[in-house]
Amino acid sequence: MKPISIIVAIAQNNAIGKDNQLLWHIPEDLKRFKALTTGHTIVMGKRTFESLPVRPLPNRRSVVITDIPGETIPGCEMAYSIEEAVLKMEEGRENYIIGGGMVYKQFMPLAHKLYLTIVHKDFEADTFYTDIDYSQWQEIAREDISATDTLGFDYSYITYERLL
Ligand SMILES: NC(=O)c1ccc[n+]([C@@H]2O[C@H](COP(=O)([O-])OP(=O)(O)OC[C@H]3O[C@@H](n4cnc5c(N)ncnc54)[C@H](OP(=O)(O)O)[C@@H]3O)[C@@H](O)[C@H]2O)c1
Repeated sequence: MKPISIIVAIAQNNAIGKDNQLLWHIPEDLKRFKALTTGHTIVMGKRTFESLPVRPLPNRRSVVITDIPGETIPGCEMAYSIEEAVLKMEEGRENYIIGGGMVYKQFMPLAHKLYLTIVHKDFEADTFYTDIDYSQWQEIAREDISATDTLGFDYSYITYERLL
């Protein structure tokens, strides 16, 4: 079994990105992302790879999905379809889907776990998360974080496991 976990930060209006960038800078959320994903396989679309400040992210095995035949990226493994990305995942350890919109949508039916950071504010965006059918998911952990002066909005970490 290859456990598949989606990790994503989503605004109240489902916004996740604009101009191939994130919509906010939440240092604590980035630390959590690093703590969860370090030492694991991370799977991403080519646009998300290009948006990373450090490429590839250190101390993780990166699988980058692209439609461009034969394209390679130093330090990354390539997958030319969702099925190929699954073939490259690790057995018995969490594999993290780290974005973006196109790739999250295709992995939603395959994911076993969701690590959501819900930002309690609307953002203008060009990339949105697909609607989540919460009847298929059970909340297993939740932490609510209050706004600070610098951040200006509340957010919550919510973890779900697939029910069905
Ligand atoms: N809020 C968050 O947690 C979060 C996390 C990650 C990303 N983001 C944001 O999301 C946005 C990027 O998302 P996006 O939807 O534009 O792009 P994306 O999902 O990161 O990447 C899309 C690209 O992946 C490749 N791809 C996707 N599905 C494929 C398939 N089935 N077979 C082959 N290749 C496939 C294609 O690459 P080629 O064009 O090379 O063929 C496609 O253009 C950015 O704004 C980013 O900041 C937000």
